[in-house]
Formats: sequence, C-alpha cells, structure tokens
Amino acid sequence: MKKILITGGAGYIGSHVIKELLKKGGYDITVVDNLSTGFLDTIQRLQDRWGDFRFIQMDLGDWEKVDELMQKERFDEVIHFAAALVVPESVENPLKYYLNNTANTANLIKASVESGVKKFIFSSTAAVYGEPESIPSTGISEEAPTAPINPYGHSKLMSEQVLKDTAKAYPGFKYVALRYFNVAGADVEGTIGQSTKDATHLIKVAAETALGKREKMYIFGDDYPTPDGTCIRDYIHVDDLALAHIEALDYLEEHESDLFNVGYGRGYSVKEVIDTMRRVSGNDFKAQIAPRRAGDPAILIADSSKLRSSTKWQPHYDDLELICKTALEWERQLSK
Ligand SMILES: NC(=O)c1ccc[n+]([C@@H]2O[C@H](COP(=O)([O-])OP(=O)(O)OC[C@H]3O[C@@H](n4cnc5c(N)ncnc54)[C@H](O)[C@@H]3O)[C@@H](O)[C@H]2O)c1
Repeated sequence: MKKILITGGAGYIGSHVIKELLKKGGYDITVVDNLSTGFLDTIQRLQDRWGDFRFIQMDLGDWEKVDELMQKERFDEVIHFAAALVVPESVENPLKYYLNNTANTANLIKASVESGVKKFIFSSTAAVYGEPESIPSTGISEEAPTAPINPYGHSKLMSEQVLKDTAKAYPGFKYVALRYFNVAGADVEGTIGQSTKDATHLIKVAAETALGKREKMYIFGDDYPTPDGTCIRDYIHVDDLALAHIEALDYLEEHESDLFNVGYGRGYSVKEVIDTMRRVSGNDFKAQIAPRRAGDPAILIADSSKLRSSTKWQPHYDDLELICKTALEWERQLSK
C-alpha cells in the first residue's frame, strides 16, 4: 500500500482523482481540505460509492498541524490540489493567493521533503502562459514563455519554481507539475461533479442556464480573430484529467521531475459550447453578447504531445457533447 496525501480532495478535480485512485486500488488515502470551496458531501459520496479513506478537515495555512501530520504519517506521495482559483478575486485580493497558493504550497513542499515524500504532483494552470502573442496551430507547448497576467497565474508559477529548486536540492524528492487547460464535465457515472458556488466556468454556467438556474448567460466578446468571433478554449473532461495524475505518479517511477500541459490539443469556441449545451439539454436558452473581459486571450489550446509521448495517458472522453451531457446531468443532481 502506498500512503498518499491528497490536499483539496473535497473539491472538483481532487475528488475525481480520488475516485481513480480508489478504483485502481493499492493506496492508503488521506485527504485534507478546509472545505472553503469543497464539500463534505463529495467526500461522503466517494466513500459510499468507492470505499473508505481518511478525511481531515484542516487548513494548509496551519503549518504546525501540516508538519505534525506529515511527520506522523510519513506519506510516500502527495497530490496537491488545494488552492484559491478565481482570477478576478486574485486581482482584488492578491495576498490571499500568494499566501494560500504559494506560501502554503512552499510549506507543504518543505514538510514533504522533511518527512520523506518521494513524489509530489502539483496542480498548475495554463494561466502561467498569460496572453500568448501567437499560438501555433499545434497549441501552446511547455516551451512557450511563461508570462502570467494575474496574481493567480503568478502564484502558481512561483510554486512551480519552488518545486523545481527543491527537487534540484533534494534528489530523493521528485515532482510533476500538470498545467491544466479548461476542465469541464463530471464523473461519467454521475456520482460526483463540480459543485463550486458562483462558478465562472463556461460549461458549468451553460448547464446552470440550460436548467433555468440562471435567466441568461453572457458571451464576453464576439469580435475576436476566430471563425465565429468568440474565444476558443481546450476543454478537457475531468475524468481524463484525473487519469493524467495517475500517469504522472507512474512516470516518476522511472523518470526525473517534469511538467506537462494537460488538454486535448483542440479547441471549441464559446458559441460552439453554448450550441452544444442547447442541443443536449433541448433548451434554446438565452446567451447575450457582452464586452470582452480583460486578459482573455482569443485562443488557448494545449499542445499535449509531451504528455502523450512520455506517459501512457490516453483520453477517453474527448467529446464535447459528452462533456456537456455529464455537466448537465450533475447540475440536475445538484438541484434535487
Ligand atoms: N478548475 C479548473 O478549470 C482548473 C484549471 C487549472 C488549474 N486548476 C487547479 O486545480 C486545483 C483544483 O481546482 P478545482 O477546480 O478542483 O477547485 P476547487 O475549489 O473545487 O477545489 C479546491 C479545494 O481546495 C480546498 N482548499 C483551498 N484552500 C485550502 C487550504 N488552505 N487548506 C485546505 N484546503 C483548501 C477547497 O476547500 C477545495 O475543496 C487548483 O489548484 C486549481 O488552481 C483548476
């Protein structure tokens, strides 16, 4: 049994990774989460459906408790999801982001090194690339310059740097940073999904609108240099993203630390997403054109060839309709 610590496991992506670990077996799982944006109900659903694991309500800002837990448990592996992730909030309240996403991460890394953790998987983001001037048709590769344009992106990039320097200084400690692009959809079996309050994620907002939870939704800008004028993004199904974490752990068995983009390598426009959600929901809901938002690049697509060629990761749900259907199905469950 590998002893693994999952931070932020009561949240959207972490819960889907816990599901995959439980399905795979061989892990003694401990989850810590302060439930700031995560849900106890998600933990309960995971335990009821896929088996038991330990849940501790704890804030990673409580460094003493984190150190104590890590010294006591001596985890082999850590997957670190816990973070704050609302971009506009990071502009208004940057210190929340630097403290939670960077300082707490640095402390977790320190506690990991001191307690003998061998593998550390970190949730990073495409926000580290900022607004790329030009994007090759194959998407943004890991070689592209990093130039975050908001504190959220900076807070994550700084954590990547802490990992890089730490792994160099402590050879027993290895990490993989996964730079997620746009994550969407819900567990294909319908047990868990995204419960985030006041979410700004396009597909979740479209699902909420399709079910009448919102009167209408907005399209921020239709004058971008794209075929239909709306922004294009690379939407990855959360179950496929979850599997990338399992592959990242495997990768570190025989390789050194590294970072990978995680996306499908193709994009859909905002209008295409809304049309798909209208089709799968059978509701021709209202989407109103609004001005562009600051800091939205026209196109953001991952070049994920490095992940595909270096690991055994293979997408299973690269299908916008399925992504929208699972998001909608989960949204229905949330209404019950
Ligand atoms: N959702 C996306 O599209 C996306 C894209 C790129 C990167 N990411 C990254 O993925 C990770 C997970 O995101 P998510 O979408 O699941 O978000 P989420 O808000 O659903 O999950 C984050 C979890 O971390 C917990 N948490 C936050 N701060 C904590 C702290 N100080 N101590 C303990 N627990 C804490 C929250 O309660 C929550 O359960 C984050 O690191 C985020 O930056 C997400």
